Amino acid sequence: MTVSEARPAAFGASPPLRGTARVPGDKSISHRALILAAMARGRSSITGLSAGDDVRATAAALGAMGVDIARDGEACAVEGVGTGCLLQPQDALDMGNSGTSARLLMGLVASHPTTATFVGDASLSRRPMARVIDPLRRLGADIAASPGGRLPLSVRGLCPAVPLLHRMAVPSAQVKSAILLAALNTPGVTRVVEPVPTRDHSERMLAAFGADIRVDGEEIALRGEAELRPQHVTVPADPSAAAFPLVAALLVPGSDVRVEGVGMNPGRIGLFQVLKEMGADIVVENEREQGGEPLADIRARHSALRGVDVPAEIAPAMIDEFPILFVASAFATGTTRTAGLSELRLKESDRLAVMADRLDAIGARTEERPDGLVVHGSGGDPLPGGATIDPRLDHRIAMSLAVAGLACAAPVTVADMTPTDTSFPGFEAMLRGLAA
Ligand code: S3P
Repeated sequence: MTVSEARPAAFGASPPLRGTARVPGDKSISHRALILAAMARGRSSITGLSAGDDVRATAAALGAMGVDIARDGEACAVEGVGTGCLLQPQDALDMGNSGTSARLLMGLVASHPTTATFVGDASLSRRPMARVIDPLRRLGADIAASPGGRLPLSVRGLCPAVPLLHRMAVPSAQVKSAILLAALNTPGVTRVVEPVPTRDHSERMLAAFGADIRVDGEEIALRGEAELRPQHVTVPADPSAAAFPLVAALLVPGSDVRVEGVGMNPGRIGLFQVLKEMGADIVVENEREQGGEPLADIRARHSALRGVDVPAEIAPAMIDEFPILFVASAFATGTTRTAGLSELRLKESDRLAVMADRLDAIGARTEERPDGLVVHGSGGDPLPGGATIDPRLDHRIAMSLAVAGLACAAPVTVADMTPTDTSFPGFEAMLRGLAA
C-alpha cells in the first residue's frame, strides 16, 4: 500500500441535495467474491466490485498467492486455482486498513500448506486478532502474532487441518467467515454456532459457488475439501456506503436523494429501520433479488428526526453505521441512547470515543458510556461546526463528519479524507454532484 499525503477538505452548509447517488459495490461481498472465485477451479467474473483500497488489498494478496485477477474498472475476471492450491507468497501480505481482508485471508491460509505474513497500517495493527487466531490454532494452524495478538503476524497453515466445532463468543461475520473459509480445504464437516446472527454473505455465496453448506437455526455446517464451481457475481451497491448520501439528504433542507440497487441483506439494514423509527422519510422501492442477495432502491427526503432508544439487539445489523447514526441523532429533536456497542471500540478507530469527541468539537452534546453513546439532538437546528477534526485513519469517521458539516452553520474541516479511499473512492465528488 502506498502512503499518501493527507487530503484535507471542508464541508459547509449545503444547498439541497438532489438526484441519484452512485455508491461503490458492497465491500463485504466484494472480498468474498474474490476469495471464492479464487477457490473455484476456472474463470469467474465479477461486476460491480468495490474499487476501494480494502478490496484491492484482498485482490493483491490473492495475486501474491498465485491467483490471476484481471480488473477493468468495476469488472473483474478471476482465474480460480481451486481449493487447496494457493501458492506460498514471497513477501508479506499488506492488508492496509482492512480488517476484513486480514481476518478472511488468515482463515483461508490456515488450511493451506503455505505460510503467510500479514501486515497492516497503524489502525489495523492496533486491532485484536485473537478472535480469529484462537479458532484457527485449534484447527491446526501455527500462528505467531505480535504482542496482544496483533499484526504483524504469520500463519503457517496445516493441511489437512482438523474440522472444528466453534461457538462464536462475540457476534462477528469476519470470524465466522474466517472459519468457513478455513473449512473449505479441511476434510470433514466444520460447524460454527452463531447465537447472535450476523451478515450471512459468506453462507449465501458459498452455496452459490456449490459448497455443501447447511444452515440450521444457529448452526452453520460446511463439508470441506469443497470443489467450487466458477460463477458470475454481480455485487450490489454497498448499504454502508449508501448510508452517507441518504443521511445527508435527511439532514439538508429541501433534499431528495436516491441510491439504486442497494444490498438489503437482513444483516445490514438496521440503520434504515432505526432512521424510519426516528421519523425519516425513507422509501424502499423496487425490491428484488440478485445472485442470492436481496436488493432495492432507496429514496430519502429531508426529514425532522426524533431521538430514539436503539435496542442493543439491532447492533449486529448496523455495526458499521453507528458513526452516521450518531450524526443523524445530533440533529434530531430529543435524545438518542445506544447500548451494547463495546465492539465499536475495536473498529478502524474507537468509534465511541472518537465520535463523542468529534461531535462535541462541532457543538453537539454527547455522553460517552462504556458500551454506547447518548446524543442530545439540536432540535433540527444547525450545529455550530467550525472545527477541524482528525478522522484517526477511519473512513467512516471521515465521511460521517463530512455529512455533519453539510448541516452546520460553519464548515467542518476533515483533516484527511484519504481514509475514505478504503471503501468509497470519489466520496467528495459524489456529494458535490448531489449539491450541483
Ligand atoms: C464485516 C464484518 C463486520 C464489519 C466489517 C465487515 C465483514 O466486522 O464491521 O466492516 O465483511 O464480514 P465484525 O465481524 O468484526 O463485526
